[in-house]
Amino acid sequence: MFSKLKSLREYFRVFLADNRLLFAGIRQRRGAKAKEYLLRRNIHRLEKGLRNPECRIPFGQAYAGQTERDFETYRSQLPPAIADWGDHVLAEYRQRHANPELPVEAPADVAIPLDAPDYASLRAAFAQRTSCRHFIAPAPAGDAIAEILHDTRHIPTSCNREAYRILIVETPEKRNWLLANSIGLTNFTGVEHCTVLAFVADLAAVNHPRDRHVPVMDCSFASLLFALAAQSRGLATCYLNWPIRPNTDRQSRVLLNLPATQKIVFCLLVGHQNPALSSGKSPKSGRICKV
Ligand SMILES: Cc1cc2nc3c(=O)[nH]c(=O)nc-3n(C[C@H](O)[C@H](O)[C@H](O)COP(=O)(O)O)c2cc1C
Repeated sequence: MFSKLKSLREYFRVFLADNRLLFAGIRQRRGAKAKEYLLRRNIHRLEKGLRNPECRIPFGQAYAGQTERDFETYRSQLPPAIADWGDHVLAEYRQRHANPELPVEAPADVAIPLDAPDYASLRAAFAQRTSCRHFIAPAPAGDAIAEILHDTRHIPTSCNREAYRILIVETPEKRNWLLANSIGLTNFTGVEHCTVLAFVADLAAVNHPRDRHVPVMDCSFASLLFALAAQSRGLATCYLNWPIRPNTDRQSRVLLNLPATQKIVFCLLVGHQNPALSSGKSPKSGRICKV
C-alpha cells in the first residue's frame, strides 16, 4: 500500500513537472525563441501553399502580414540557411500574389526524382546497428562528431521548426554529472573513452499542448540518423535513458545553461567499439501488421 502511494506521488510529481515545462513554453509565446519557432512554422505554411499546384491565390492572408513583420524583426537572429529560406519563400509569395498567373515551379535545388541511395548498403547498415556498451580509446573528437551531426541535419521536423538541440558535452564536470545521473550505465566498460551527446527537446516550439510530443520526436529522428552515419564512419553508439526526475532536470538546466522550456530527453554515447567485447545482437520482430 505504502509503495503504491509512493509511486502515485512520484507519478504526480513527474506529471506536474512536465506540464510546468510545457506551459512555460506556451507562456513564452512572446519570447524571441518562441517567436522564431512560430515564424518558421508560418514560412513553412506559406511554402506548402506555394508548392501546391491547386493553390488558389490569394491564400495565407490571416498570417502572411504578421510573418513578413516577424521576419523583418527576427531575420538577423535566424541561422543563415533559415534566413535565406525565409527570403526565398516570402519573395515568391509576394511575386505570386502580385501576379497570380505565374506557374508553380519546383525550386531548382530539389532533384526530382530523388537520387536513390544504394538500398543494399542501407539495408546492411540498418541490420548491423547495435548498441555498444564496451568502448576503447580514443574518444572521438568533438569536431568530428559535429561534422557528422551537421551532415545528418536533414531530418523531418514538424513545420520545419527543429525543436531540438544536440549538446556535445566536452566539459569533464558536465559529462561526469550527466553520466552519474543517467540510470542505465550498468554493464558498460570504457565509458571514459566515449563522447557524450545530450539530446534536448525545446517546448518553446509547442504552441498547443496536443503537440507536446513533437520536440521529443525531433530528438529521436536526429539521434538515429546520426547513429547510422556514425556507424558508417566506424563509430558505435548507445542510447542512455534519461528519466524524468524534476530535481535532476532542474539541476541539468543550471549546469548546461538551458532555458526553462528545454529538457534532456536522452543521452547518446559515441565511441569506438572494443572488438574483444560485445553486448550481443538483439533480435527484432519489426512489429508490422496489415490492417
Ligand atoms: C530511448 C532509449 C534509451 C535507452 N537507454 C539505455 C540505457 O540507459 N542503458 C543501456 O544499456 N541501453 C539503453 N538503450 C539501448 C537499448 O537497450 C537497446 O537499443 C535495445 O536493447 C536493443 O538493442 P540494440 O540497440 O543493440 O538493437 C536505450 C535505447 C533507447 C532507444
